[in-house]
Amino acid sequence: MQQHGANGGIDWQLGFGFSTRCVHGGHRPGPSSKGVCLPIERSATFLLDETAYELRAAGRYEEARVYARESGPTLEAVERKLAALEGSERACLFASGQGALAALVLAHVPPGAPVMLQRTVYGGTQALLQHLLPRQGSDLVRFDGRDAADLERQWASGAALVVAESLANPTLEVADLVGLASVARANGARLAVDATFATPLGQRPLELGADLVWHSATKALGGHSDLIAGVVAGPAPLLDPVRRWRTEAGSTPDPQMAWLLDRGLKTLALRVRAMSANAVQLARYLGAQPDVVAVLHPSLPRDDGERRRAAQLQLPGGMLSFVLRGGDARATRFASELRLIVEAASLGGVESLVSVPARMSHVGLDAAQRLAAGIAPGLVRLSVGIEDAADLEADLFGALTRSA
Ligand SMILES: Cc1ncc(COP(=O)(O)O)c(C=O)c1O
Repeated sequence: MQQHGANGGIDWQLGFGFSTRCVHGGHRPGPSSKGVCLPIERSATFLLDETAYELRAAGRYEEARVYARESGPTLEAVERKLAALEGSERACLFASGQGALAALVLAHVPPGAPVMLQRTVYGGTQALLQHLLPRQGSDLVRFDGRDAADLERQWASGAALVVAESLANPTLEVADLVGLASVARANGARLAVDATFATPLGQRPLELGADLVWHSATKALGGHSDLIAGVVAGPAPLLDPVRRWRTEAGSTPDPQMAWLLDRGLKTLALRVRAMSANAVQLARYLGAQPDVVAVLHPSLPRDDGERRRAAQLQLPGGMLSFVLRGGDARATRFASELRLIVEAASLGGVESLVSVPARMSHVGLDAAQRLAAGIAPGLVRLSVGIEDAADLEADLFGALTRSA
């Protein structure tokens, strides 16, 4: 088995399957570090030597490894694992998913250049771009992520970045990443994809033509609802400027958190497969309930177009949404009547969580804006965990009955 390659990401990607990379990627015990587990290097500052001085003089601060806001060995090991999972040259960890997006935008949108943003995305993505871009004179132009022709139609001259979400929060619309990548490329722009819902097991956007991928690692990557983190992955020339913004804006995570993320990543493949299988079963179950008007999950494509786009996914994943008869009032009652599934924000953890987007992630939109974003009254978002599917089904049934 290979030991520490010069670039752990690329070496591991070539040699081993996804589950093996989850377990072993980024760190191998060896003569200088004999522990089987990744060691936590807590030091905020490191011994200065001539190599470090030379690297700093060349502007290569992160490689100089002299100060933990710039980089550090624990972070770098987890970054190698994440790069190996994404099939990317590099990955860069952040203190949150939002921190990752902010650095990505600052690095890849020159002042004045417009940004193309998928219409249905996580509320925080929309808020960040709406607040950040006017300050640098950049327009924000929306497009339908399911339709590459719509991106072409809406194209704003000089746009530098296309921002997409491969499985949209909370409508689970499947984006046409292959089509979006080809329109972005033809127009000389970069495509950056939020693949938080899909996870690198379900979809690796870089393999489909995207330039950069980012995640809220708070979700399935961490997987236990016990940390906040983000990651951006991509080729070195595109990622290094993102890393530089991390250093300058100070959104570098703590090594303790990176270690916890590494621990979660070891079981990523197992967890995501279990969540996805549970979600497929629950989607089918909910689809048969008279009070459920619609079920939104890639395992139940809404039309032929979605069926084709879903072929870009390797797993339908653990996120599903459904629309209840009785609107948001019913959805609210339903969520509060669950006894096992926890009513809480966030997603991707081992425990099933439910939320009503109209009251949570998309509360900033009015009813008409929510409808335009595909969020029907009565929409409930369910992050399916790894519990026994029969217990989850029974809980859903009980809450449907009690909230009627
Ligand atoms: C799809 C998606 N992207 C990004 C984020 C932001 O991540 P974080 O909360 O880690 O900053 C979230 C958070 O809910 C999310 O759901």
